[in-house]
Amino acid sequence: MIRGVILAGGKGTRLGELTKVTNKHLLPVGPYPMVYHPLKKLTGAGLTDILLVSGTEHMGDFIELLGSGKDHGCRLTYRVQDEAGGIAQALGLAELFCTDSRSCVLLGDNIFQASLKPMLDAATAKPDWAWIGLKEVHDPGRYGVAELNGERVIGIEEKPKNPKSNLAVVGIYIYPPDVFSVIKTLKPSGRGELEITDVNNYYLKSGRMGFSTLDGYWTDAGTLDSLDVANDLVRKVAPTF
Ligand code: DAU
Repeated sequence: MIRGVILAGGKGTRLGELTKVTNKHLLPVGPYPMVYHPLKKLTGAGLTDILLVSGTEHMGDFIELLGSGKDHGCRLTYRVQDEAGGIAQALGLAELFCTDSRSCVLLGDNIFQASLKPMLDAATAKPDWAWIGLKEVHDPGRYGVAELNGERVIGIEEKPKNPKSNLAVVGIYIYPPDVFSVIKTLKPSGRGELEITDVNNYYLKSGRMGFSTLDGYWTDAGTLDSLDVANDLVRKVAPTF
């Protein structure tokens, strides 16, 4: 059993006036509000039980937009993240939703071309492992960066000054049910957040970390420049849902 989780909280401060009254994930990317992209990725891969996490300010907008999920062929559940305490904190709110099930977690501002299916299939072969997506980028210092030794991930650093590779850890993560006990052991990072990179390093150290390399384009859409890039990419080649 695997359930979907879309993380659509956070402050969106890097988008300036665009997110003064609107949540980042409601801004347009191609023909859809941004949040449709992760939602369609999950439903396109056959997931039908999906949790959306966001802050109090905009939860009403998400419910108005997506409702029960009926129009998207899924059942939606909503959970409020009181403060933007980090991606791992937001994921921690999925604990009851994912009791005994694995989770496929998408960051709401990640836009990518490929279907989720190949990565889900690869991860399902190792159900006790965490699974991450990697993508070669020209500016790795903006992301979590993975260091590989052959076919093994040997380290992940969050926004390193001197990246050890050009492989960004993208915002697609698949976790076994014990992820919630891992999150409970985390301490806030220098930026005051519970970091998903710390979760991933836990699995890496315990020898339970796999990865898939993402085909096609991938970008986040959390800055003015990357939001433009995301729109250009999806207009040129529509993503596979
Ligand atoms: O885009 C991929 C990158 O996303 C990864 O390579 C990094 O390892 C990971 O830390 C993350 O980096 P960012 O610093 O760019 O993440 P950001 O704060 O922009 O948050 C990404 C999404 O997560 C955002 O669309 C909303 C959600 N989020 C974020 C925070 C901090 C929440 O739902 N709650 C939160 O508290």
